[in-house]
Amino acid sequence: MRLLVLGGTWFLGKCVVEQALARGWAVTTFNRGRSGVDVPGVTAVRGDRAFPEDLSRLARQGDWDAVIDTSSSDLPPQDVLVATRALAGRAARWVHLSTVSVYAGWPHRPLREDSALLDCPADADETFGYTGADGSPTKYGFQKAGGERAVVETFGDQAVLLRPGVILGPGEYVGRLPWWLNRARCGGRVLAPAPPERHMQPVDVRDVARFALDQAAASSGGAYNVTHPEGITFEGFLQACMAVTESHGTLVWAQPELLVQYEVKQWTELPLWRTHAGVWAVDSSRAVASGLRCRPVSETVAETWTWIQAAGRPVNHPRWAEHGIDPDKESRILASLR
Ligand SMILES: NC(=O)c1ccc[n+]([C@@H]2O[C@H](COP(=O)([O-])OP(=O)(O)OC[C@H]3O[C@@H](n4cnc5c(N)ncnc54)[C@H](OP(=O)(O)O)[C@@H]3O)[C@@H](O)[C@H]2O)c1
Repeated sequence: MRLLVLGGTWFLGKCVVEQALARGWAVTTFNRGRSGVDVPGVTAVRGDRAFPEDLSRLARQGDWDAVIDTSSSDLPPQDVLVATRALAGRAARWVHLSTVSVYAGWPHRPLREDSALLDCPADADETFGYTGADGSPTKYGFQKAGGERAVVETFGDQAVLLRPGVILGPGEYVGRLPWWLNRARCGGRVLAPAPPERHMQPVDVRDVARFALDQAAASSGGAYNVTHPEGITFEGFLQACMAVTESHGTLVWAQPELLVQYEVKQWTELPLWRTHAGVWAVDSSRAVASGLRCRPVSETVAETWTWIQAAGRPVNHPRWAEHGIDPDKESRILASLR
């Protein structure tokens, strides 16, 4: 199997490459050489996918049985379109990493693959879309929806659209799970967002990678939600963080109304906490029927802690700093709960 990975040095793309090499596949990667380092064993092609001439140079290095695109998160649909067209004659299939944010109903309603999508043309530029006052929809969601269209327009029934929700695991640079792990490790009274039984569906980066490779080797196309089919409760998740960090702390549950009253920013100040009803209601049964297998979330938690301990604070990324609540603010909220 000859695979081209757009990206390939960073978080999901790196996992895809490592697993593809382990399967014995011949792997080419394409990136600018700014994030991470090449996985030994790949044929690395340097270039910026925003530049058509770089894509033409890449295309001359083909052919490939499949492309897995892990590098379109900051790119407008028109750039995705240029890339798909540049590589169309060189690759048989395109597995595109999209997101649940493409759904018009996320995070408000339960979603399946046939739920309505945000409307964005395949050739839209970076100005298209907007982010709503409560953080939904997002400009990112519009842009990714346009990117999906670009892929389908070019690759037709050989286009595979993967829509993960939150991806966690070793290498996570966003800083969601790492923040909770470090907070648990610090101990004391740990502010936790009630209700404890709130269900979550974070998926492990290695399980997304395995599914992407399976889809690269499959023969049909289509869209798949890639969320954890069983998931975990918020309490289970936080208890796993406490256990693995050998925390001496205690979870103190605060009702959403109190957190809103203190203007705790959803999704970032208490990472993964969001009150919207549909945030963790994305049905992945179609992917499961096609082979998606997800390890228990507690395993992701434990192995992410192992990774953090081995590497110190391993990822220097601006999104890391967006996560977590100021300790003074946490103390004020906790004081009101005594
Ligand atoms: N992380 C999540 O929780 C999450 C959730 C849902 C969906 N997704 C989707 O999953 C995909 C992978 O996400 P990720 O978080 O692993 O990685 P990412 O930050 O979106 O991608 C980084 C990779 O893309 C390369 N890249 C970026 N811009 C490039 C350009 N202009 N030209 C060539 N290469 C470029 C980077 O290498 P260089 O910088 O060296 O070029 C790096 O290898 C994305 O499409 C994202 O939208 C992610």
